[in-house]
Amino acid sequence: MTESITSQPPLLEVEGLTLEYGSGRRWTRVVEDVSFTLNAGQTLALVGESGSGKTVSATAVLGLAGRKGGRIAEGSIKLRGRELVGLPERELRRIRGSEVAMIFQNPLRSLNPAFTAGEQVAEVARVHLDLGRKAAWDRAIEMLDAVGIPDPERRARDYPHQFSGGMAQRLAIAAALCSNPSVLIADEPTTALDVTVQALVLQLLRKVQSDTDLAVLFISHDLGVVADVADRVVVMYSGEVVEQGPIEDLFTTPSHPYTAGLLGSIPALGRGEPLRAIPGTIPPPGTLQGTCRFAERCEHKVAGCQQAHPPLAVTADSRAVRCLRAADLVLEGITR
Ligand SMILES: Nc1ncnc2c1ncn2[C@@H]1O[C@H](COP(=O)(O)OP(=O)(O)O)[C@@H](O)[C@H]1O
Ligand SMILES: [Mg+2]
Repeated sequence: MTESITSQPPLLEVEGLTLEYGSGRRWTRVVEDVSFTLNAGQTLALVGESGSGKTVSATAVLGLAGRKGGRIAEGSIKLRGRELVGLPERELRRIRGSEVAMIFQNPLRSLNPAFTAGEQVAEVARVHLDLGRKAAWDRAIEMLDAVGIPDPERRARDYPHQFSGGMAQRLAIAAALCSNPSVLIADEPTTALDVTVQALVLQLLRKVQSDTDLAVLFISHDLGVVADVADRVVVMYSGEVVEQGPIEDLFTTPSHPYTAGLLGSIPALGRGEPLRAIPGTIPPPGTLQGTCRFAERCEHKVAGCQQAHPPLAVTADSRAVRCLRAADLVLEGITR
């Protein structure tokens, strides 16, 4: 990746994002001070166990935080330098689906059961590309073909429930990409699929990306999955970033014990050793103050770990880690 020499703002820049859920006077911080940038042609992975705050962060990027009782307490979300926080819903709706598109773990969630495959994709083309009926339908067939749905002319007349999981996810990808978005948010897009189908969908996303310069925010609980798609990784734990950096660096030299723990629980890369699950469970966001949130599960903790909340400290080469002991721990990575 070459650094831009002009002073263009990053495509997507999230700065100090803090999200709260609740009502009245009771609000819980579920995401705290999350920052990352994403550029065209890049894939940034948000990784962490279930409940770490990945989906709510992505939802905020789409301007949907307010929908389910959430609010952006602090922070900024900029698309090409333009602040999205505080934009009226009408503006956000225009941006969603045209500039920023999203696919979900369950592809049926992004699809409308009442419309055929062709109609869903054609509808996006009509609304966002301003195409007429015939041109939109042609564009839909073209998209179905591009995402590897066999016999697209015929399949265009089928309804979403007539597609297998893998084919339905391809259809969701076709609908998401039909408007030529610059950012695709993919929330656990392969988690519900068989391993072989999962690999094909990942391959498709990689291909789309190399063809179009799409930026992808890829969300997964599985570091093994993101290894194949991501350039950079942001590891989240209990609502905050605990480590971030280029994917190769995190794999070879993880700096946070949690990252090392996630690496140790990747099946295919486990080097024949028994899998090590991280013992314990993730504390609910907002429950731990003044301590390292991972400490109670950490085999490397010392007394100081539970006496202060460690800052996210920038280390060498665009990496950052939130661990008191990062400098003196030697954690084993996985050489691929
Ligand atoms: N609508 C909501 N209301 C209240 N709490 C929520 C809501 N959605 C998510 N949360 C809380 O926010 C935290 C992060 O959730 P989520 O982003 O879904 O995690 P992940 O996607 O990493 O599994 C969880 O503790 C969850 O309970
Ligand atoms: Mg999620």
